[in-house]
Amino acid sequence: MQGFNRRDFLRVAGAASASAVLAGKVHALEAMQSEPAAPVAANDHIQIALIGAGGQGQNDTSAAVQVPGVKLVAAADCYDGRLEHCKEVWGSEIQTTRDYREILARKDIDAVIVGTPDHWHKQVAVDAMKAGKDVYCEKPMIHLYADGPEMIEASQATGRILQVGSQRVSSMVYQKARDLLAAGAIGKLNMVTAHWDRNSATGAWDYTIPLDASPETCDWPRFLGTAPKIPWSAEQFFQWRKWKAYGSGVAGDLFVHLFSGTHFITGSNGPTRGMATGGLRFWTDGRDAPDVMLGLFDYPEGFNLSLRVNFVDGGQESEGLIFTGDEGTMEIAGNAVSVSRVPRTKEPGLMIGSFTEAMQREILDAYRKKYPVVHPEGEPAAGFEKYEAPAGYSDSYDHFRNFFAAVRSRQPVVEDAVFGFRAAGAALLSNVSLDRGAVVGWDPERMKLV
Ligand SMILES: NC(=O)c1ccc[n+]([C@@H]2O[C@H](COP(=O)([O-])OP(=O)(O)OC[C@H]3O[C@@H](n4cnc5c(N)ncnc54)[C@H](O)[C@@H]3O)[C@@H](O)[C@H]2O)c1
Repeated sequence: MQGFNRRDFLRVAGAASASAVLAGKVHALEAMQSEPAAPVAANDHIQIALIGAGGQGQNDTSAAVQVPGVKLVAAADCYDGRLEHCKEVWGSEIQTTRDYREILARKDIDAVIVGTPDHWHKQVAVDAMKAGKDVYCEKPMIHLYADGPEMIEASQATGRILQVGSQRVSSMVYQKARDLLAAGAIGKLNMVTAHWDRNSATGAWDYTIPLDASPETCDWPRFLGTAPKIPWSAEQFFQWRKWKAYGSGVAGDLFVHLFSGTHFITGSNGPTRGMATGGLRFWTDGRDAPDVMLGLFDYPEGFNLSLRVNFVDGGQESEGLIFTGDEGTMEIAGNAVSVSRVPRTKEPGLMIGSFTEAMQREILDAYRKKYPVVHPEGEPAAGFEKYEAPAGYSDSYDHFRNFFAAVRSRQPVVEDAVFGFRAAGAALLSNVSLDRGAVVGWDPERMKLV
């Protein structure tokens, strides 16, 4: 009979050591972006306009015009300085205006990028689709739940492409994660944990206000739109995320990316209920959106999602997603996905140390007859594989490449209005839950609060 010592106990219990997990392989993901692009004839260019030319709108446009055959011809914004900067970057010949409807009236514009604050997404996107334009709408797709059905309906009725701007949905890293999960790399998924922690003023939405900000250089009534009418505030104009009237809190700003990623990787349509807690812990500067939020969600596929955003993290800023299955974990961090596969011993294990020596021996004897030792030298090392995107990889570029491919082919995009509403609708459950102090039900198929 085999002796019963600590090493044997570990083996019986089926534990894998951390050092075994770390030994593994690193693979480079294929660089799709280095494929030579076919030249596009000048008369076959897609002409685009930017509506909402702030930080993200300008980033989006920079990525969009790198796609062969795409040209920016106009920009609309409520702050003159941003319109002037668009001319500095994309040429003085582009049309600029404070009124986006002037852009929608142009017949030579095929598609628009909507980079306005959240409270304008629905109106601009619907107006653009009704004017015959395809739309790349920044996330979160909705600001209010009522926005979702209206945007889906407009996209279906007009036959226009609407792609939402959670760019990770087009990332080669997320595609690899989706393939790995489907191939059973971590067994059956039971939990997803994700976080997005920040530790700086700009991370907490204290964006820089330009020195010339005034009611003359900024179109304040147009910026407000349907939001409550209040006197001019440079802070609310340039740091709008801090107020629920324009933004959607950390849920709409950051949780939504984590939902889009989770839904894309798992193929789920969304949670059936969610609850959140949190509060305004540190940035008490007049804002009404919390700076700490924790959310928990039930998925009908049999896993839970746990999310955290903390703007007051005293440590490192970080962001990541971990998928836990019954045979391992898969982690997305930076531009890489890694899998730690833990071989699951089929033995149940024993806890017998508190019994008499004789009883321990008797139980172990019977146990070893039932479960003979398969690996006398210990369990094989857990497998670790890492898949990295090439240096400088941009998922934003791939997201625009997919968008413009759909504009040309008229084939549907993955992150369409339905996908966008399912991600944003799930994310905003957190705000509803925090307000009500209650668990909130959601029907992910019909996309309705229950
Ligand atoms: N996908 C991502 O990773 C990502 C990153 C950042 C921001 N975003 C999203 O992009 C959007 C914009 O965020 P931002 O950081 O660029 O904000 P921002 O404040 O820098 O820019 C918004 C711009 O919209 C303009 N605007 C407001 N109302 C308008 C209207 N009616 N017509 C035309 N322009 C109008 C404002 O003048 C402002 O310049 C938000 O919805 C945000 O959630 C997405």
